[in-house]
Amino acid sequence: MKSILENRPELTRRIEEVAEVAGYLWQKGWAERNGGNITINVTACVDDDIRRMPPLSEPIPFGLTLPRLKGCYFFCKGTNRRMRDLARRPMENGAVIRILDDGASYEIVADRAVRPTSELASHLAMHEQMIASGNGYTAAIHTHPIHLVAMSHNRAFLGRNVLTRLLWSMIPETRAFCPKGLGIVPYAMPSSVELARATVRQLAEYDVVLWEKHGVCAVGPDVMEAFDQIDVLSKSAEIYLSARAMGFEPEGMTDAQMDELKEAFGL
Ligand code: 13P
Ligand code: ZN
Repeated sequence: MKSILENRPELTRRIEEVAEVAGYLWQKGWAERNGGNITINVTACVDDDIRRMPPLSEPIPFGLTLPRLKGCYFFCKGTNRRMRDLARRPMENGAVIRILDDGASYEIVADRAVRPTSELASHLAMHEQMIASGNGYTAAIHTHPIHLVAMSHNRAFLGRNVLTRLLWSMIPETRAFCPKGLGIVPYAMPSSVELARATVRQLAEYDVVLWEKHGVCAVGPDVMEAFDQIDVLSKSAEIYLSARAMGFEPEGMTDAQMDELKEAFGL
């Protein structure tokens, strides 16, 4: 069987990057079983031959109407597929989909009829928002980072920017490399349109949001940068929890130290 990646070096590079990050999510322990999902907008790599490719599925509605996505193409992890399998064999555990002209349904195009992630509504809503904002972002990741999810079980952490300030104050790099902080999305049913809507409301302000008692979502110019943002926040969460496990509340950087950083890095 001919793969869509054949003779398409840029598309191949983009999907290899997804596979690399999928491996990191597994190694981090953030991707039990089929946990988490990745999508990237690959429209810029699509040529006329791909546009002419016959669909491998019926049109499938995704629950929202997102007019900016008409005619766009996405590579998506398959639903119920393991992140660790996506890492090794991306085209067997994910697929390229085409958004149809109604902006509300898609068809699977290549390589196989692998049905996309159950969080497709959230992912596509994130992509619509990235296009609308013109920020040039193309990647969305949802994953289950242990320490951040644990912190989301404490109501006291769920106030606006409470976790942002706490995590920023654990190590200077966190503010430098995750300058917008961490948005909070109250618990909603996985895969739901409500979750998708609440996610993009928060992403208007942040690049990473915490899904209460579930996981995080991050967006970025590419999948590696989206991963890095989750990784720095997760590192801070681990530092905080390590201090608590040693029996003390960590002091955290002072407001003055954080302000100094803000100036130095132009944040
Ligand atoms: P999928 O296997 O459908 O991608 O779902 C995993 C997940 O984390 C749902 O929130
Ligand atoms: Zn999940």
